[in-house]
Amino acid sequence: MILALAPMDGITDLACRVITKKIFEKHNKNPENQLILRTEFMTSDGYIANPDKVIKHIIHTEYENPLILQIFWWNKKKLLKTALDIEKKYWNKVFWIELNMGCPANNVMKSWWWSALLKDKESSLDIIKTLSENLKLPFSIKSRTGLNEEDKKAQMNFLIEASNFCHMITIHARTLKELYSGNWDRDFIYELKKGANKNCKIIGNGGINSFEEIKSKTKNLDGIMVGQSAIWNPRIFTWYSPSLQEKFETILEHISLLAKFEIFISDLNSQNLWKNKIKPKLKEIESIDIQKNYKKVYYTPLLFRKYLHQYLKNIPNSKELKELCNKTKDFNQSVKNIQDFFSKII
Ligand SMILES: Cc1cc2nc3c(=O)[nH]c(=O)nc-3n(C[C@H](O)[C@H](O)[C@H](O)COP(=O)(O)O)c2cc1C
Repeated sequence: MILALAPMDGITDLACRVITKKIFEKHNKNPENQLILRTEFMTSDGYIANPDKVIKHIIHTEYENPLILQIFWWNKKKLLKTALDIEKKYWNKVFWIELNMGCPANNVMKSWWWSALLKDKESSLDIIKTLSENLKLPFSIKSRTGLNEEDKKAQMNFLIEASNFCHMITIHARTLKELYSGNWDRDFIYELKKGANKNCKIIGNGGINSFEEIKSKTKNLDGIMVGQSAIWNPRIFTWYSPSLQEKFETILEHISLLAKFEIFISDLNSQNLWKNKIKPKLKEIESIDIQKNYKKVYYTPLLFRKYLHQYLKNIPNSKELKELCNKTKDFNQSVKNIQDFFSKII
């Protein structure tokens, strides 16, 4: 069965993905379960205009195998150019390419084209065919149950046709109008699985909060993808329930890896390395000395706050630590705050 970490802009960076995979590898007992990771989405328009700004969204290590690299935009030429370029430059047999079709992230929604691919299904199908025919890598799409309730039938027909050209289709069980809240329509996805090309894997997504739910909602699907619940519970892809000590160790490992990734990206940009093939090894990133590069970890405490708040969910009396970390801008001080807090409760 396929278990997938949902792409989340500003969340599922390299550090987040690696931590999730390490936990999965440690605690997964079922060899038939496979974890698939995805990068945050990257606009092909941004990539063509200024790769330096967006390259960090797609940088990955072989450790993350199998990894889906997600792009979005509405213009076929730009999408194809981006897809072919990243296939050529970042080809290391660990990833495939996915087209995001209708993500209502705040920064995307402000633009008129944010729902273009869901609205114009004919052009969308043309884009899908073009990408899948021109790419050597496997190709997938991620979409929703439609624009709104009225659009669902047309969306179902569109997805069934699209399944002839995709290795995988992942569906967030809500319409675009429903954004992130509203009723799940998982029956839509179960129906899609019945009608779709048998060679195309169908993955369900949306509102899954536990491993028990992953098991019970899979039904006829090839797998389940989890987003928001995986941030505070990166162990959601296994039955395992961690001790406080393990949570503490995960938090420390995560903040350190985030710092090392920040240093890696900072060096990358200064050397304009994106022009070449980038295939970092996880060991290469893990071996970076944070203290020797201290000035480069300027944003790590700020970036880590969103994860820390999630990790501390359900841990009693953690409000003080959250407030302290909200104010702390220094990396070593942030780590010390975390250590002090856990030393009192473990
Ligand atoms: C903060 C945030 C960022 C997201 N960014 C992306 C993205 O980059 N690409 C994408 O396809 N979906 C994105 N999504 C949607 C998720 O992948 C997922 O479909 C959605 O959160 C529903 O799954 P969940 O209920 O398990 O969270 C994002 C969602 C959130 C909450």
